[in-house]
Amino acid sequence: MSFTIAIDGPAGAGKSTVARLAAKKLQFIYVDTGAMYRAIALGLLCTNTDIEDRSALTDALNQMEVSIRYVDGAQHVYLNGEDVSGQIRTEQVSDMTSRSSAKPEVREKLTSLQRNLAASEDVLMDGRDIGTMILPDANLKIFLTASVDTRARRRFLELTEKGESCSLEEIASDIAERDYRDEHREIAPLCQAKDAILLDSSDMTIEEVVERILTLARERM
Ligand code: DC
Repeated sequence: MSFTIAIDGPAGAGKSTVARLAAKKLQFIYVDTGAMYRAIALGLLCTNTDIEDRSALTDALNQMEVSIRYVDGAQHVYLNGEDVSGQIRTEQVSDMTSRSSAKPEVREKLTSLQRNLAASEDVLMDGRDIGTMILPDANLKIFLTASVDTRARRRFLELTEKGESCSLEEIASDIAERDYRDEHREIAPLCQAKDAILLDSSDMTIEEVVERILTLARERM
């Protein structure tokens, strides 16, 4: 039987950073489900699909095959065989992902792929609905969050370090808007599973969050 860890939470709480580090220490496979939703959003943008038109959306999804592979331990996501890992982190893709991931057709397409990965391997999977929908029987569930201010400041630093000009206020308002959309969509909204442990990373370092997850995991293994 595989051991499964689900980490859910809003954008910018540090999920992917801590999940990657914790998975490495535990020698688990890290599955970044957001990257899969992003690959689909990229496909929808490239094909100019009107996601409000259900038949156009279904047709476009039928033409898309998403898969993941691990290269030197890092997850790469492929759309119709092409590695799109480098193209899915733009603001345009983030915005389309937030809108398209609310569509049941999109969620359905990725559910079995995610469950199959967890069936055969020890995985640490992060996303929005892993503990509530994808792996309701996960051995450990974490809900990782941080205040909007903290998340906006982290994103601001990340972008300014890359030399991009941005406004802290705009980032904070984008984050709040995306949270609202993720939390209020009808299908698989972002919410804490009843049996998930809440971790607020606002005043914690990355190392402290990773350590806490490792301790909780080891207690249950
Ligand atoms: O984790 P991320 O920022 O890469 O996620 C991008 C978007 O995908 C975000 O708007 C929420 C959505 N998402 C989702 O609906 N379900 C998941 N399991 C993972 C991400």
